[in-house]
Amino acid sequence: MCGIIGVTGGEGILETLLDSLGRLEYRGYDSAGIALESPWHPDPGRTSGEATAGDDRADRLGATLWRARAAEGTASLQALKKLAQAAPLEALAGIGHTRWATHGRPSEVNAHPHLDCTARVAVVHNGIVENCRELADHLLAEGHELASETDTEVLAHLVEAELAQAQSTSQAQSTSQAQSTSQAQAEDGGLPAAPGVLAEALRRVLPRLEGSFALAVMWSGEPGRIVAARRVSPLVVGTESTGTGQSRSLLASDIPALLGKADRFFVVGDDEVVELAAGCVRVSGAGGERIDPSELEVNWDLEAAQKGGFDDFMSKEMHEQPQAIADTLLGRVLGDGTLTLDEVRISDEELRQVDKVFVVACGSSYHAGLVAKYAIEHWARLPVEIDIASEFRYRDPVLDQSTLVVGVSQSGETLDTLQAVLAARRSGAKVLAVSNVVDSSMARQADGVLYTRAGPEVGVAATKTYLAQLVALQVLALYLAQLRGILYPAETDRLLGELAELPGLVQVALDRSDAVARVAARYEGTKDFFFLGRHVGFPVALEGALKLKEISYLRAEAYPAGELKHGPIALIEPGTLVVGVATRTRLWEKMMANVAEVKSRGATVVLVANDGDERSAAEADEVLWVPRTHPLLAPVIDVVPLQLFAYHLARLHGHDVDRPRNLAKTVTVE
Ligand code: F6R
Repeated sequence: MCGIIGVTGGEGILETLLDSLGRLEYRGYDSAGIALESPWHPDPGRTSGEATAGDDRADRLGATLWRARAAEGTASLQALKKLAQAAPLEALAGIGHTRWATHGRPSEVNAHPHLDCTARVAVVHNGIVENCRELADHLLAEGHELASETDTEVLAHLVEAELAQAQSTSQAQSTSQAQSTSQAQAEDGGLPAAPGVLAEALRRVLPRLEGSFALAVMWSGEPGRIVAARRVSPLVVGTESTGTGQSRSLLASDIPALLGKADRFFVVGDDEVVELAAGCVRVSGAGGERIDPSELEVNWDLEAAQKGGFDDFMSKEMHEQPQAIADTLLGRVLGDGTLTLDEVRISDEELRQVDKVFVVACGSSYHAGLVAKYAIEHWARLPVEIDIASEFRYRDPVLDQSTLVVGVSQSGETLDTLQAVLAARRSGAKVLAVSNVVDSSMARQADGVLYTRAGPEVGVAATKTYLAQLVALQVLALYLAQLRGILYPAETDRLLGELAELPGLVQVALDRSDAVARVAARYEGTKDFFFLGRHVGFPVALEGALKLKEISYLRAEAYPAGELKHGPIALIEPGTLVVGVATRTRLWEKMMANVAEVKSRGATVVLVANDGDERSAAEADEVLWVPRTHPLLAPVIDVVPLQLFAYHLARLHGHDVDRPRNLAKTVTVE
């Protein structure tokens, strides 16, 4: 959770920070804050702010820190922008943060950046330092004063404590490397040959930390330098060189925050230390040894990270679903109709040995996994278990080398799923990650990765990434079937043809948004919703209910329709709205019998039904029409009107659909 950003070099550092924070807000918006490092100026008015380094020290150190923080929930960034009007005119570097509270309630005092005792070190952080209590006790005993309840502030004080020691190490290194300095300086641009003092201090801090983190630090003793590190939590580094001496370097929690601002992107490995100066980046390992960072090829454009004319990201992203599916299918099917999964680093031979599949995931990704269970069992005839990642981690699943564990996570950073996948690998199972983020933590930890190609998803509620997951998992099911020789080639061909038609059919469902909006308007005052489905319609019901809960804040329960009579039917009364997934599968008759049961108890019924299905329409008060496809592919289409239904109801209730309360896009805590 939380988003971090850092910029050094070039013009417009403040504007870049604020703009990127806007793009990172989906990661949390309990508070927002920035710290700027500016050249010391004799006029105190130019360096005044909510907190500054003492000016008496600033003249010796060559820079001073200015900080502003706002904790006003979804209005935090706006409030921060107002405070930023008083920022120093000139900035050498800056860091920023948007927060989803974990340690310490949302408040200004807990907002990042956090400072050390001297107000010369500023830190922003995403993740959780699990041993922060113990570290804080140690620091307090040494005389440090902590102002907040956060784990992050501990980091600022740890860096402060290590700076003195680091200074002597760094001096010794600089002297011994003096002869090669000029060459190294040329290679590293503005960075001297040896890692700086701040980098050395952070390297000493890292082994003392337990947990997950991505953090960025500035110290007024090294003006224009930002030092960062990560473990498990995401961090991407970028550089931009304009060729006019305006080079800059940046870091952020994700790529969209840097789109249009950097032209090269680099990955930072766990526990590596990265130093950023204007236009140059240097990465070093645990022993201070230099590491060549691997460069990322980024195809996303800036447009993809912005709203593109839609009112909100959620509607933009729902309308991108046909493209997301088409892109996810791209290149998977060869001209001769056979399937290829070239990004899967598990050999076909190993996949043929698989005798059991586990799917682990959370939230919407779990719902995609449920559909995969039906598809893999039916097409590939392999037993599939599916588990919520936070449960899987703490039970004792029976796994061995012939088990395939499929971790489904659009972000690839969800801590529960990541840990579940790591536990599975330790048990000897083969792990396949299904992720939307290239080089995400999960993608890196897995034996193989099948990328969904939905592009960046900013709205907190998963939409296009969910559909892309469904399609990727269906492709996986067909691939396993092909490897195991279960399906006749003609059957595979037919299914591939139906997969290829999905983008067009999803478009048809999206084009009916106005009709869904009219139905939603009729039930604006409804408080209780039941979602029912059978077979793959059940995961669709679960996903429809989840969308409604998370963006409309309305009570919605989802059940397999056949389970209703075992208890939940007691809740059905006049005024209850039942939304049923009644598209044509072999269980349609049974589904309609369940619909009759709720109708006879006074419920109002809205059905998702296939175009022209008058028999379904005759039983329903309202119909959300969808085109028909193969029953196992139907969830891809059937969920669309339910996404739209939740979306329109949320808007009718005046909610911010992109940033629902209490939620964050990426859940990197347990
Ligand atoms: C719901 C939603 C969440 C995520 C869940 C897993 O709309 O977005 O339920 O699906 O937090 O996230 P990933 O897929 O990133 O692991």
